[in-house]
Amino acid sequence: MKSQNQHLLVGLFCVQRFLLFWCLISGMAKSIAPDPPPLIAPAVSTQTGLLLEPPLDLSWFSRADFEAVCATVGTNRIHKSWTNPITPLPPHVRAGAHGLTEPEVIDYMRLVKQLFNDGKSVPISDVGLISTQEDVNRRPMFNHIAAFSNATVRVFLLVQRTSREKEWGYFSIVQDLTLDPPLDYFAEIQDTRIKFEAVSCYKCHSSGPLAIHPVRADLLSDPPLAAALSQFIADQPRSRMHFPDHERPPEYGQPMALRFCSRCHKADGDRGPLFLVQSHPIRVLVDFGYMPPNRALKPDEIVELKAWLEQKK
Ligand code: HEC
Ligand code: HEC
Repeated sequence: MKSQNQHLLVGLFCVQRFLLFWCLISGMAKSIAPDPPPLIAPAVSTQTGLLLEPPLDLSWFSRADFEAVCATVGTNRIHKSWTNPITPLPPHVRAGAHGLTEPEVIDYMRLVKQLFNDGKSVPISDVGLISTQEDVNRRPMFNHIAAFSNATVRVFLLVQRTSREKEWGYFSIVQDLTLDPPLDYFAEIQDTRIKFEAVSCYKCHSSGPLAIHPVRADLLSDPPLAAALSQFIADQPRSRMHFPDHERPPEYGQPMALRFCSRCHKADGDRGPLFLVQSHPIRVLVDFGYMPPNRALKPDEIVELKAWLEQKK
């Protein structure tokens, strides 16, 4: 009897040791490789009545259609295998830079376009929710999005077209990390000419790069990559938008002060303040249940938000 108990004790001791060992190992593994971020939740309208037009019916558009359009950008450029969702860039040429020059920003934009064209980036491809749903567009908008970085900048490339166009447009965001807060340059890349713009971009990009929101789960090339890229964007430090010399930042009026949004979206918040000019992404992200993150608005909050959106300018 006694020896049996001893066995039991020794056995328990071993189990305990094993558990301790296991915790240590798995804890170490966690600190080396963090859990992959959860996949992006599919877009489903929650019927808040905030959309200006009914949710777009894309049932006629199949995964095969999606793949066919995406492939027109060049199959060597997309569907890359990857370990790092962010393509590393060579170190910045000018040591100790404090504030990039416009020519340096231009060089980065040209470089990432070249890397994409040479098949040396890891883009995700999707039909984006916000631009597709937009009241003026309302047809599938195809995006290939890739991110790049070194210690000085984060660079984003968007290669985009609608289902009707044949040509792909190139857009880029360069975040200058030598400044605090970082400064975001927005531009369209036309061949090799860089056309800086901010006013037209600000209406959707109120806090710089936008998290990824596919219109449908099957209109997305690589869900784990999209989730990793989206998290990289969502976790970014607060930045400011660079308005080029030929553009004056317009008067945007009063920032939204509804507590259930502005506790995060404010001058010193995680994300930038929201203005009426951003009403389109606001309507879409709230109606599709992405904002606020982690909960749905209550009916009286929707009424308040609607009243704010419909106020006279
Ligand atoms: C109608 C809203 C809208 C406007 C206007 C807009 N964008 Fe975007 N942009 C988006 C959305 C939505 C995404 C992410 C799409 C997705 O889910 O794939 C995006 C993504 C991007 C990306 C990839 C990195 C990121 O933010 O995810 C770049 C680069 C970009 N846009 C540049 C621009 C530039 C430059 C302008 C102005 C010339 C501009 N955008 C104007 C909606 C817009
Ligand atoms: C708990 C903090 C939090 C609250 C509350 C919140 N947001 Fe956001 N919001 C975020 C974060 C983080 C992002 C970027 C990640 C993303 O887009 O999923 C974001 C992104 C957005 C964007 C896209 C532009 C951008 O800044 O990246 C819009 C528009 C937006 N939110 C609107 C709203 C509205 C409207 C409300 C209130 C109904 C709201 N948010 C409430 C944290 C919040």
